[in-house]
Amino acid sequence: MNTKNYFIIGGTGGIGKAMVEQLVQTATNEHASTGTHNSTNSNTDIRVFATYHKSVPDFEAENLYWIAMDICDEQSIKQAAETIKQQTTYIDWVINCAGLLHTKTQQPEKALQQLESEFFLQNMQVNALASLLIAKHIKPLLAKSERSSDKPAIFATISARVGSISDNQLGGWYSYRMSKAALNMGMKNLSIEWSRSLKDVCVVVMQPGTVNTQLSAPFQGNVADGQLFSPAYSAECLLEVLSKMGAAQSGSFVDWAGESIPW
Ligand SMILES: NC(=O)c1ccc[n+]([C@@H]2O[C@H](COP(=O)([O-])OP(=O)(O)OC[C@H]3O[C@@H](n4cnc5c(N)ncnc54)[C@H](OP(=O)(O)O)[C@@H]3O)[C@@H](O)[C@H]2O)c1
Repeated sequence: MNTKNYFIIGGTGGIGKAMVEQLVQTATNEHASTGTHNSTNSNTDIRVFATYHKSVPDFEAENLYWIAMDICDEQSIKQAAETIKQQTTYIDWVINCAGLLHTKTQQPEKALQQLESEFFLQNMQVNALASLLIAKHIKPLLAKSERSSDKPAIFATISARVGSISDNQLGGWYSYRMSKAALNMGMKNLSIEWSRSLKDVCVVVMQPGTVNTQLSAPFQGNVADGQLFSPAYSAECLLEVLSKMGAAQSGSFVDWAGESIPW
């Protein structure tokens, strides 16, 4: 049986944790339905490598490997890739679920007067630069995955609709909007480079919906009834969309339903 290896960055965040739980659960369910599950048997078809940062993981599973990683520190990203290489020669899917909108002391800007360099640069580092650095160090592992144009390897990052320049009707949130727009450009660039140097890898940026996590908590007041997704629902939708992506879709910006978002 072929083992499918996932690498989830931000595995203790709202959406990231839901993704890790669902992937681990899928493995358990598949074993149960095929009768191959055995609590002492580590020969499974899904392995999940997940990163944590400040929040310590609060769950374990047989085929789940937690790795400490700070996405603002290239050395830490490199070290995480080395740790994975000790367990496997390849990764099939990478999903970066880490992100930043506010901190304990800083909220997204309502007006230009609130703009501060340090917070702006922190947004750029976490939301935009990190995915490029992760791609740089994970490429050799993606290169060794078994893949085809129909079932490509995946390099996905959770972006945000507010990173769309043409969709911007409200203004505000300079640091977050600009960092997500920069992420989108970086991933589009990467999709072009990898279409030449790394065949059959789909690079995507995704809008997860408005999801009930600590990141969105201060801003949920205006969300219409039924429009606030649970992390589990959002993760399920995003995984479903990714499972239908072909290599031809590399360089897309899509939402949780698979609908294209204008750049
Ligand atoms: N929730 C929404 O409504 C919504 C809407 C649109 C887009 N998004 C995007 O979806 C993604 C996930 O958001 P979420 O709602 O799940 O937020 P969340 O619950 O706050 O999770 C964010 C994750 O990012 C990690 N992270 C932040 N800085 C990091 C660093 N330097 N190194 C490593 N990990 C770091 C956090 O870990 P620590 O806390 O341990 O540092 C946490 O695990 C983000 O990119 C966000 O912009 C969310």
